Amino acid sequence: MKISGRTFVVSGGASGLGRACVRDICAGGGNAMILDMNEELGAALVAELGPSAKFLPCDVTDTDNIASVVAATVAWANSTGKPLGGVIPAAGVGNPGLTLDKSLRPVSLESIDFVLSINLRGTLDLVRQVLPHIAAASPEGPDGERGVVVMVASAAAFEGQMGQVSYAASKGAVAAMTLPMARDLARFGIRVVTIAPSMFDSNMTAQLSDKVREGLKKAMEFPPRPGKPEEFASMVRQAIENAMLNGVVIRLDGATRMPSKL
Ligand SMILES: NC(=O)c1ccc[n+]([C@@H]2O[C@H](COP(=O)([O-])OP(=O)(O)OC[C@H]3O[C@@H](n4cnc5c(N)ncnc54)[C@H](O)[C@@H]3O)[C@@H](O)[C@H]2O)c1
Repeated sequence: MKISGRTFVVSGGASGLGRACVRDICAGGGNAMILDMNEELGAALVAELGPSAKFLPCDVTDTDNIASVVAATVAWANSTGKPLGGVIPAAGVGNPGLTLDKSLRPVSLESIDFVLSINLRGTLDLVRQVLPHIAAASPEGPDGERGVVVMVASAAAFEGQMGQVSYAASKGAVAAMTLPMARDLARFGIRVVTIAPSMFDSNMTAQLSDKVREGLKKAMEFPPRPGKPEEFASMVRQAIENAMLNGVVIRLDGATRMPSKL
């Protein structure tokens, strides 16, 4: 599918991996609707990219909020003549918590709900509300493609570390949704790809302590450095453009396998 001439919805699009996708989509001739809670970063990105990007504040845990920003995206796509071509639900949070800590306190239900409501429910809710509009687009090219869903899992879906039980649950679920969603959407000419990155530079990983950062570096094979957001965006572009990528979870990790302890 071509990026040019289509509109893509990117949640978490104001920062990190989502922001790199927004930049790449706009550079490729597409329009990007940035959905994020960070209004300052969202406004700065629109100022940088001009009319091919639009920002709307959105909390992906709020289903009514999603409904109104999706309606606004559809109106924007109609007014620009660039129909909806895909959704990249990249909003996510880490929020570490041990299953059981040294004082025998189990992980709190609040933190479980917080992580699952953004990373899992927020992903699926945004995707499901955008899908009817992608399915309504005219089929494109010899395969009759209508659009692409590119979800964001994590290496933690496979090798979650200590303190990542909720995060791993959310990302494992995103990885597990990929194939059934691809099967459900095949009849509409909509593909589903999930990318599972290892450590990438972003606001999320900037919060890691030097000790954790150095420990993670030791687990890296090649290249021995965190991924760059542009490298993530390049994979998303491939997921959009390559019609044979469907129903798959792609590890983007330079052969890193997260160890048990750092
Ligand atoms: N950076 C990494 O190393 C890494 C590795 C694996 C997976 N991921 C995943 O990539 C995605 C992007 O993360 P990032 O590293 O770019 O982090 P980031 O913190 O730079 O960006 C995440 C964005 O999500 C937004 N957000 C958070 N809660 C939201 C909500 N309720 N509604 C709407 N927006 C919300 C934040 O405001 C922020 O702009 C996440 O799903 C993360 O779990 C990141």
